[in-house]
Amino acid sequence: MITEEHIRELLNPVKDPHIHKTFEETGAIENIKLKEDKNHVSIKIALTEPNSSEQMQLQQEIVGMLKKEGVATVGLRFTELPEEQRKEYLEAANEEKEANLIGQTGTQFISIASGKGGVGKSTVTVNLAIALARLGKKVGIVDADIYGFSVPDMMGIENRPQVRGEKIIPVERFGVQVISMGFFVEDNSPIIWRGPMLGKMLTSFFKEVEWGDLDYLLLDLPPGTGDIALDVQELLPSSKQVIVTTPHPTAAFVAARAGQMAIKAEHELIGIVENMSYFESAITGQREYVFGEGGGDKLAEVLETEVLGRLPLQQPYEEEDVFAPGIYQEDHPTGKIFLSIANKINKRCGK
Ligand SMILES: Nc1ncnc2c1ncn2[C@@H]1O[C@H](COP(=O)(O)OP(=O)(O)OP(=O)(O)O)[C@@H](O)[C@H]1O
Ligand SMILES: [Mg+2]
Repeated sequence: MITEEHIRELLNPVKDPHIHKTFEETGAIENIKLKEDKNHVSIKIALTEPNSSEQMQLQQEIVGMLKKEGVATVGLRFTELPEEQRKEYLEAANEEKEANLIGQTGTQFISIASGKGGVGKSTVTVNLAIALARLGKKVGIVDADIYGFSVPDMMGIENRPQVRGEKIIPVERFGVQVISMGFFVEDNSPIIWRGPMLGKMLTSFFKEVEWGDLDYLLLDLPPGTGDIALDVQELLPSSKQVIVTTPHPTAAFVAARAGQMAIKAEHELIGIVENMSYFESAITGQREYVFGEGGGDKLAEVLETEVLGRLPLQQPYEEEDVFAPGIYQEDHPTGKIFLSIANKINKRCGK
């Protein structure tokens, strides 16, 4: 008859499927009971994520191991590890996953999302990235809008990335490292890909790009709550999120869905950027709330977060020598608002 000690020896090296730690390390085996007369064993095991499909697999594996040792029947019960231990393990596993993706630790991922298209995600992504760089941070942008890429145009990037060995070197502009599908498409021709390919493309944007040492990597997401948003949540489990909305109450209502999705995936919301908040007359200084009022505040209330800033409707200054149609200069009123948002984000991220 098998002994309790022998069972422990057998199970100690088994790994908790979600965190790559062994049962011995996590203290997963809470209880072992033997019924010698019936050759029955019952075991209680604590996991980080019980009731998952991985648990089913694990169950089969353990039953198989014990039956091989001559046990007639096996009863397994799974519980959850204590909350604090669980959180610590999952956070460490998330960080490891992300570090593997870009080959270094310590980068804060921030995705820029919205419920609807055309509200200014790309504008916010590029200007926020540049504002963070103006504060002395090392910043990258992944243009994750694979169909609707617009980052290269907004930033006025005309170079293509270089390839060094097996890796793609991102293009640098205004101190920000950029990668976009736009760099790999000829003549602006449309691309037609399906879900799984999109996911692979996105993974390549992290894995096959030499990002170097970054404080922040910003992701410009496509509009809505589709496949890419899900892939991002899968790839970057500890990414934080900024939501862009217009001040119209209905727009905020749609944006709330994107926010709720982030919350479900345990992605921390940093806050809301309300774009196209008002138009200020250059002549009278009077503000007109062209797209309504209150959307940002309403959204912040629903998602229990804050409005990081409100951007007026305004174009960047025209410059003769620099072509970057979507970039607000440092001394431009909107550029200053972006600096203030970047400062808030820096504080929130402890950088
Ligand atoms: N505050 C603003 N003032 C003036 N124009 C703006 C402002 N914000 C955005 N725009 C313009 O509005 C258009 C849409 O903005 P942008 O491309 O950033 O939105 P988006 O949410 O990324 O859109 P999509 O969903 O298509 O990716 C762009 O032409 C942009 O230059
Ligand atoms: Mg966009």
